[in-house]
Amino acid sequence: MTKRFGAITALDDVSLMVSRGELMTLLGPSGCGKTTLLNLVAGFLIPDSGEIAIAGRRMTELPAYRREIGIMFQNYALFPHMTVAANVGYGLKMRRIAKAEIAHRVGEALALVKLAGLEDRKPRQLSGGQQQRVALARALVIRPQVLLLDEPFSALDRNLRASMQVELKEIQRKLGVTTIFVTHDQSEALSLSDRIAVMADGRIRQLDTPDEIYRHPLDRFVASFIGDANVLRARLERIDGAVATVALGAARVAVPARTLQGAAVGNPIDLFVRPEGLRVADNEGAAAVHGLVAAQIYQGGHIDLYVEVPQALSGRVLLRVPSHEAASLRPPGTRIGIALAGDAAVAFRAE
Ligand SMILES: Nc1ncnc2c1ncn2[C@@H]1O[C@H](COP(=O)(O)OP(=O)(O)OP(=O)(O)O)[C@@H](O)[C@H]1O
Ligand SMILES: [Mg+2]
Repeated sequence: MTKRFGAITALDDVSLMVSRGELMTLLGPSGCGKTTLLNLVAGFLIPDSGEIAIAGRRMTELPAYRREIGIMFQNYALFPHMTVAANVGYGLKMRRIAKAEIAHRVGEALALVKLAGLEDRKPRQLSGGQQQRVALARALVIRPQVLLLDEPFSALDRNLRASMQVELKEIQRKLGVTTIFVTHDQSEALSLSDRIAVMADGRIRQLDTPDEIYRHPLDRFVASFIGDANVLRARLERIDGAVATVALGAARVAVPARTLQGAAVGNPIDLFVRPEGLRVADNEGAAAVHGLVAAQIYQGGHIDLYVEVPQALSGRVLLRVPSHEAASLRPPGTRIGIALAGDAAVAFRAE
């Protein structure tokens, strides 16, 4: 589909297929077109070109209320004057379902989101997390073909958010409801999704499983947007079919060749390595590059070690070191060698 607002192309010829029962996440920076895509699926917007179908049935011109879609938006407020039960049952009442059936299904939906017993409360008598659960129950009670969630937890604090994510995942699995989830929080996307569509400027840049996106980003944008990445200036030494060899100091690193299209042997290239892809070298021979420890930040289970390295594009790299590895042995200013751990690096042409 393509969708324009005046001179702005909010969605530029985007194609997306979501499997039955799948949790698909749209992830991307503000303004990249996530909400627009969701609104097109919901029927709140009509595309300038393109089609949308659910279970093989064409939906493009069908009004929103006939699409059997459950929706939960960040600011999709509950009706403040209605009880929890009336809020959840509202969609069923609009569909003229019998009273006894409504009561039964509202009870079921509230049990699902662990709010049984709170039927008669008003929204203002609930915590933020409980209000989000009511909104989720309201979206699910109509037994939607598709569930659309637009940043549903962004107003919640970190702990509550994490527990709601786990619960949403469990509920979604249990019901097997096809879900499109929108977020610009990459850790939320990585932990919840079956697949992630990474978007930028109205287009999908990569559509893949969280693990593929994290370990094998297809371009610099995806590599930088998802997870922490250390970028090191290196040199392309050889290409053998699908594998390229990159020289970083004394080390030789194997990376996928597909992201190095157009780069010639001898060219400078940028090596992207996750923090867990680097380690402190135990001996001189193992070190690829050297640097001076700039800071070590205690994080509980591990320590973030920042090291000034001349080959790093930002001037420094980040390593994660287990806390039990005596941190005091590397005070700021210590010179250390850094080695590559594992094979998770990717490389792109230098900019
Ligand atoms: N009704 C509208 N009229 C004009 N421009 C719009 C309209 N709705 C969205 N846009 C523009 O379309 C682009 C995509 O907007 P959209 O709301 O889909 O972004 P988003 O990815 O959901 O961003 P965010 O993460 O900030 O919610 C933006 O440039 C936005 O300004
Ligand atoms: Mg949005």
